[in-house]
This record gives sequence, C-alpha cells and structure tokens, in this order.
Amino acid sequence: MRAVVQDRYGPPEVLRVAELEPPVAGGNQVLVRVRAAGVDQGTWHLMAGQPRIVRLGFGLRRPKVPVSGRDVAGVVEAVGAGVTSLRVGDEVFGTCETGSFAEYAVGRVSRLTRKPANLTFEQAAAVPISAGTALQGLRGIQPGERVLVLGAAGGVGSYAVQLAKAFGAHVTGVCSTPKLDLVRELGADEALDYTRDELPTAAYDFILDTGGNRSLRSLRRALKPKGRVVIIGSETSGPLGGMSRILRAALISPFIGQQLRGLISSERAEDYAELRDLIEAGQVTPAIDRTYPLEEAAAAIHHLRDGHPRGKLVITI
Ligand SMILES: NC(=O)c1ccc[n+]([C@@H]2O[C@H](COP(=O)([O-])OP(=O)(O)OC[C@H]3O[C@@H](n4cnc5c(N)ncnc54)[C@H](OP(=O)(O)O)[C@@H]3O)[C@@H](O)[C@H]2O)c1
Repeated sequence: MRAVVQDRYGPPEVLRVAELEPPVAGGNQVLVRVRAAGVDQGTWHLMAGQPRIVRLGFGLRRPKVPVSGRDVAGVVEAVGAGVTSLRVGDEVFGTCETGSFAEYAVGRVSRLTRKPANLTFEQAAAVPISAGTALQGLRGIQPGERVLVLGAAGGVGSYAVQLAKAFGAHVTGVCSTPKLDLVRELGADEALDYTRDELPTAAYDFILDTGGNRSLRSLRRALKPKGRVVIIGSETSGPLGGMSRILRAALISPFIGQQLRGLISSERAEDYAELRDLIEAGQVTPAIDRTYPLEEAAAAIHHLRDGHPRGKLVITI
C-alpha cells in the first residue's frame, strides 16, 4: 500500500510516500480501507516531535509509528476476532493506531464508529479529534450561558462554536480579521477580531481556549467571578509547549472562585457517535478549508502551520 512515512522527527520535508505492507487487524481491531484522513496540529506535533515531551509517549529518537495521521474515514475491510459492532463494508470514521495517511489503517473498535450518513468521507475525516476535543471541552455548559471560544475559526474552535450553539449557549468567537465571516456563518452570536478587539471584562460564564496563548490573567479578567476556563492548547515553543499554562492553571484554580483547567482529550467512539447524531441532525457541519492528495501531505502540513486555514484540512486517498 502507499503511505506517507517518516524515519525521523523534523519539518514536513521528512515525509515521503513509500510502499508498505498493509497492517493486520487483530483482537478488537478493524482494518479500514482509508478514503480520507484529517490533518490537525497533533499531526504536526507527532511529525516534528515537538514539544519534546511528546517523544516520551511516541518514540524517544524517532516516531514509533512511522506513518502519519490519526483521523480516518473509510470502509471496513476486515475485522479482528473480537469485533462484533462493525462489519466488513461498513463506512466508518474515528481514529487509527497505524497512521491514516495510507491506503489501509488499523484502529481499535473503541475508537471507530459508523460514519454520518450525510457526510462525504472527506468531511467525516475532518471530525474525530477536533470535534471530539471540542465536545469534551464543552461538557457541562448550560443553555443561556455566555461562552467565549478563542480560536473560533480553527480546527477545534470551528466545532466548538457550533456545539456551544447546539447546547443553547450565547456564543462569542474570537478569530483573525479574514475569518470573522466564517465564525458568524458557523453560528456565533458575536465575532471578535483578535488583532483589534479587546475582550470585555467579567462577561463570560465559560471560555474554551484553543488559540492565542493568552495569559491566565487576561482569561480571568474576561470571566465572570464564578466562571470556568478550559484550556485546550495554543501553539507555543518551549519543552512543555502549551502544557506550562495548563499546569499553572491547575495550581491556582483551587484558590480562586473561578475554575481553570486544561483538557487532554481522549479518542472515543461514544463521542464520535454523539457527534454523528448532531451532524445528522444538521446542528454541526465540518468547515473544510481544502483537501490534498496523499502525495501532497507535506504541503498540507505547511498550510496548517503557516497558511491560516479556515477550519480543517483533509488528505484524500
Ligand atoms: N488538549 C488536547 O487534547 C488538544 C486536542 C486538540 C488540539 N489541541 C491543541 O489546541 C490548539 C488548537 O488546535 P486546532 O487544531 O484547533 O488548531 P488550529 O486549527 O491551528 O486553530 C487555532 C486557531 O487559533 C487562532 N488564533 C491564533 N491566535 C489567536 C488569538 N490571539 N486569539 C484567538 N485565536 C487565535 C488561529 O487563527 P489564525 O490562523 O487566523 O491566526 C487558528 O484559527 C493547538 O495548539 C493544538 O495542538 C489540544
């Protein structure tokens, strides 16, 4: 099979297309004929081995999994002996363990579920990690609450705006000037431009922070006295990357009236099924900036990092 592989951590130029043996599904795993694969900041982190702390889990000297990509949409080609919930021929989406920038990928049945009937494979591949993270971050918000989404036109943020609206919140999205129209189209009640607008003081019940790396002090200023912040992340340098702000939030949160916490998202088929229901009900639609063929995976990652995409990028196979 054709796959995008890397032999070492580094910039997108470490990626190359190679011929590999397809992976084999065992036990509770499923072999998927990949039709499309999502690209997100996590794809870059695992490719670059940055921040360095990711190498503890994904390979100290080189990536343990040489094939890029986790988000996947495709057709079940084979199932392991322990799989009862999916069958050969099912159209699925979710995440995989062997790399999704490939013609075939293997994933656990606990991380894959039936694809939304109203989405193409390209659209479905843009959902799992970004929308799953947004869903987990927004758990607990109540109808009528004032929710601020920082990074509202990004991968996670574009879903967070739609999900917060679906949960009945009043939503303000923060993005850059060219994306104000997209954030309003996604359903935000208000769109603020991070290059021009100040955040109002004591205005929000809940802040989902997916971009901009604002100080905890500035997040707290925008929050009501009993408000909550969930920090998803921001692209920052340093050995811990965005984790250092999350650690500081955990240290001060017990001593203040506001709740500050970070989220490390999980890949879960139950969440993807919940998202599928919202998608099929027309409450959430992936915002896709553009798609790339497998051979142009490096260009996709360059665009993700430097091109300020509107929503998501997808690799088609
Ligand atoms: N904790 C977890 O489990 C988890 C899961 C998924 C992602 N993440 C992390 O969360 C972050 C967001 O991920 P993503 O995939 O959504 O990335 P993304 O697609 O790059 O989106 C980030 C967005 O933030 C915007 N932004 C930049 N500066 C901003 C500012 N000052 N104020 C408001 N928005 C600003 C960017 O807009 P412009 O391009 O217009 O500047 C971009 O649209 C990344 O750091 C990622 O690694 C963490």
